[in-house]
Amino acid sequence: MSELSVDHLLGIKYITEDDIQLIFETADHFKEVINRPIKKVPSLRDITIANLFFENSTRTRLSFELAEKRLSADVINFSASSSSVKKGETLIDTVNNILSMKVDMVVMRHPNPGAGIFLSKHVKASIVNAGDGAHEHPTQALLDCYSIREKLGDVAGKKVVIVGDILHSRVALSNIFALQKLGAMVKVCGPKTLIPKHIESLGVQVESSLKKALEWCDVANMLRVQNERMEISYFPSTREYTQQYGVNKALLDSLGKEIVLMHPGPINRGVEITSDVADSDHAIILEQVQNGVAIRMAVLYLLASKIQRDED
Ligand code: CP
Repeated sequence: MSELSVDHLLGIKYITEDDIQLIFETADHFKEVINRPIKKVPSLRDITIANLFFENSTRTRLSFELAEKRLSADVINFSASSSSVKKGETLIDTVNNILSMKVDMVVMRHPNPGAGIFLSKHVKASIVNAGDGAHEHPTQALLDCYSIREKLGDVAGKKVVIVGDILHSRVALSNIFALQKLGAMVKVCGPKTLIPKHIESLGVQVESSLKKALEWCDVANMLRVQNERMEISYFPSTREYTQQYGVNKALLDSLGKEIVLMHPGPINRGVEITSDVADSDHAIILEQVQNGVAIRMAVLYLLASKIQRDED
């Protein structure tokens, strides 16, 4: 297979295992490119990409922008906090104004679930979802699975536990879809109040004890507690959350085996993971960030090849 089955990357739910493997193989090539002294290739020289961020971001925004520049695309950046959205402009009007500047691709982060899907039905551009509310964050799941593949050789057959605030997490949902498509076994672990009621219908198991979950797994993906999406308290106190669902060195030492620790960032240091563990060899947090650039280069390159082919 040499091209993606989709024209947009809206969520992992909408792509196939073959799509994921193609993205990984393409990312392998770009990872080699970005480790060369000359890190830039001309692949997207005639493509213009708009990065539309209606919600805060550090890693995803910088990673997409770097990926675009490494591919020689023309890049424009938009941040809602400093735009006419503040004056009441709608999403469609904002995007159509940007597209009238002959933009080919849109990378969008938005607080509303489904914003990317909505956009893909109304505008003529390839849309990449960079996180839509608590729905999906596909490139994060791709870089997470790619990092597991790099560290453990394969994703198939691996046992992965996703820990913490599953309820508000687009990273959790996209990871569940991606891990299962690639043949991993998935458990979730966290306070009952932060586990969606029907999560088992997605084929994952729920484990309430963090120690048991860590004893079972090869990889633990520690999620951030998303205080900004919580209007009420979901657990008695941060201290109590950390005692039950935080990873520390003593807990890791008690397992009697090595596990790989991941975190999508930004980290609440001392809440879901202690600083010494986050900065230790157990954690591959910075490798995930590094792989994010190669994965995003692969996604943009593969989607752009479809645009160019349609124009031929
Ligand atoms: N992992 C992630 O999406 O981080 P940002 O919110 O900083 O982009």
